Amino acid sequence: VPPPAGTKGTANHPNPIAFTGVGDPREYPTKALLHAMQDVLQRDGPSALEYGTFDNGYVPLRNTIAQLLASQGITAHPDAILITAGSQQALALVCQLLLKPGDVVLVENPTYNLALELFRLLELQIVGIPVDAEGMQVAQVEPLLQQHHPKLIYTIPNFQNPTGACLSGGRRRQLVALADRYNVPLLEDDFVGDLRYDGRTQPALKTLDPGGRVIYIGTFSKMLMPGLRVGFLVAEGPIFTRLVAFKRVNDLTVSTLMQRALDAYVNVGQYQRHVQRSCRLYRQRRETMLAAIRQQLPPDVHVDPPQGGLFLWLRLPPGITCRALQPLASAAGVEFAPGPRFFVQPAEGEGYLRLNFATLRPEAIEEGIKRLGRVLAGVSRV
Ligand SMILES: Cc1ncc(COP(=O)(O)O)c(C=O)c1O
Repeated sequence: VPPPAGTKGTANHPNPIAFTGVGDPREYPTKALLHAMQDVLQRDGPSALEYGTFDNGYVPLRNTIAQLLASQGITAHPDAILITAGSQQALALVCQLLLKPGDVVLVENPTYNLALELFRLLELQIVGIPVDAEGMQVAQVEPLLQQHHPKLIYTIPNFQNPTGACLSGGRRRQLVALADRYNVPLLEDDFVGDLRYDGRTQPALKTLDPGGRVIYIGTFSKMLMPGLRVGFLVAEGPIFTRLVAFKRVNDLTVSTLMQRALDAYVNVGQYQRHVQRSCRLYRQRRETMLAAIRQQLPPDVHVDPPQGGLFLWLRLPPGITCRALQPLASAAGVEFAPGPRFFVQPAEGEGYLRLNFATLRPEAIEEGIKRLGRVLAGVSRV
């Protein structure tokens, strides 16, 4: 997600290095998408440019998504899939439909900044649950359920944004059981679940859910291209029916052309090859960044190596704040996502920053971490 307009950032540096963004734009299958669009326009003519049906999305794409999910162990009927404009729209629709101002939402703390922004705009009460190397500390959830009666639990179980933590299997089962016992919908945001570099794949919460309480959301943004604006949600029952109706009055449809082009490009084999390629590339970049951090940054910088995803989450040495570090880093030509934007109480995040290791080539990663090391050595501690 780009920095807000008006931020000066590294604009004056001749060779800025930004550890922000999502995947590597050089890896986008641009040519394949171009061909897919041509094929679709030739095959379908004007009908590729009409509204399409005002329902839950282009049927062949829903079938394809169901197959992709099945290859990841998630059983979803194509009729239980709603195609959305990215997973962000899915997130916003669910929250607008299920929650009203003053309602409580339980979230990992820290969590995805634009989810926090959404919750704040909807005037929800946000209650944070701490995160450790195994993800959300689920042992803390039950007293919060009893105390706050939340209307939603929002979680990013795989390679969480921003910490990179992956929720352990045991905690997944406990969380689903709690949501079931306390009758709370669970929103599972699986934005980069495919990008696993080591360790065992954990079951999606959706697959552990006997009561149909989990709403699963996924996206093609991180694996393919964010500019497609195609994501989806999987849900059942009356909630799903209402989400489809609400989506229709929200934007009528997701671009018909994009849905068809994406479906023409994606099939399970091609998608899996792309996933494998991205995993090889990003795993190597994660290693490069971890090694550079060990060599270039002070030993009291802490990082838990993530098993996948896009991000490293750094705890800064005691006394160093993002507020002090960021202007110096910008002047030195290195950009990162500052910790405060990911916390329920932003001040709690002053001692953290998030680095994206997937976007840049190894040389740029090494140079960027070197710059960060120089800045860290010179910044004053409070
Ligand atoms: C955790 C998480 N969820 C959802 C999104 C939304 O992405 P999109 O709307 O492109 O699918 C993002 C984007 O960065 C994210 O980090």
